[in-house]
Amino acid sequence: MINMRRNLKAAILGSTGLVGIEYVRMLVNHPYIKVSYLAGKGSVGKPYGEVVRWQTIGQVPKEIADMEVKPTDPKLMDDVDIVFSPLPQGAAGPVEEEFAKQGFPVISNSPDHRFDPDVPLLIPEINPHTISLIDEQRKRRDWKGFIVTTPLCTAQGAAIPLAPIYANFRLDSVFITTIQSLSGAGYPGIPSLDVVDNVLPLGDAYDNKTIKEITRLLKETNRNIPESYPEDLSLAATTHRVATIHGHYEVIYATFKEDVNVEKVRESLDTFAGEPQRLKLPTAPDRPIIVTNQDARPQVYFDRWAGNPPGMSVVVGRLAQVSRRAIRFVSVIHNTVRGAAGGGILAAELLVEKGYIDKR
Ligand SMILES: NC(=O)c1ccc[n+]([C@@H]2O[C@H](COP(=O)([O-])OP(=O)(O)OC[C@H]3O[C@@H](n4cnc5c(N)ncnc54)[C@H](OP(=O)(O)O)[C@@H]3O)[C@@H](O)[C@H]2O)c1
Repeated sequence: MINMRRNLKAAILGSTGLVGIEYVRMLVNHPYIKVSYLAGKGSVGKPYGEVVRWQTIGQVPKEIADMEVKPTDPKLMDDVDIVFSPLPQGAAGPVEEEFAKQGFPVISNSPDHRFDPDVPLLIPEINPHTISLIDEQRKRRDWKGFIVTTPLCTAQGAAIPLAPIYANFRLDSVFITTIQSLSGAGYPGIPSLDVVDNVLPLGDAYDNKTIKEITRLLKETNRNIPESYPEDLSLAATTHRVATIHGHYEVIYATFKEDVNVEKVRESLDTFAGEPQRLKLPTAPDRPIIVTNQDARPQVYFDRWAGNPPGMSVVVGRLAQVSRRAIRFVSVIHNTVRGAAGGGILAAELLVEKGYIDKR
């Protein structure tokens, strides 16, 4: 049940960036979170509508266009109740700590705090119980506020469909090959000469962080497998960027420790729902995973905006039985929506519902 009296005020850090604009777009019609502060760096002092590169659907909302971009400074945000932080890696870490110290709940899309042991790496459908880490974080750091992070968009594209599989079947190994969009690298991103007419490998460091985040997310997934079963899953990822604008395409090959029926896997994906769906959170899609049976889908161009709100569902297709103990499927995720801003808003809604965020 939505408490309309909450009317929470939000600041968006990095508001002119590719993730920042999705926060603005998605929050402008939110039932109880209102954008009240737009922060930036190079754009400070200018009207948002003049400086923003609105590289998403629709137009800059009228009620936002004239708002001035302001400094990233907690002292100027007295009436702000929530801080969304899609700041660049490196810049984010110390800034987010300062906000949390000053009493703000910070929802971060940046990598800087993703592996702090007392910071949740949250996908609300998968590991909602990890928000209790906030209590430990506040106690240990003596903060009134806190930091919650959302995972790498690439990790989410695989972890969301893998979670119900891991929860219900004895996975042995997972091999992931990604074909990722340009917007995943922020603006201006990669020089065109490196990526047009090319498939650009993202390299070992990117492959490894993808694996590390998926591993943490799966370890935090509640399983329906009865007896204790060792978590000795092997994971490999090979990541690439191509010249698409939004949407990551991921090919996933999974093997199991016993025979598996692909139709049972399909059912677990099709029926997957979590706490956000049970609580009917405003940004929760009815179906976090949409399974398509069409042979030539999903496609990035047609499927990245799937779900309601648009872009919040991961589309899975090409599901096939490869052998008695192996399956293959493909997923498409909207990297700046479900993989960043939409995931951040859904996290905030869960935290509101669980009493971690209220008017300050
Ligand atoms: N893009 C994705 O698909 C995606 C997905 C998941 C997570 N993420 C993460 O989200 C974060 C933002 O990504 P993005 O794609 O939105 O990047 P982006 O397009 O490069 O935007 C960066 C934003 O941060 C601001 N900024 C830059 N340096 C700053 C500083 N030192 N202090 C305060 N503000 C600063 C910029 O403001 P000015 O314009 O005013 O200079 C701009 O608004 C990154 O940590 C990224 O890893 C991105």
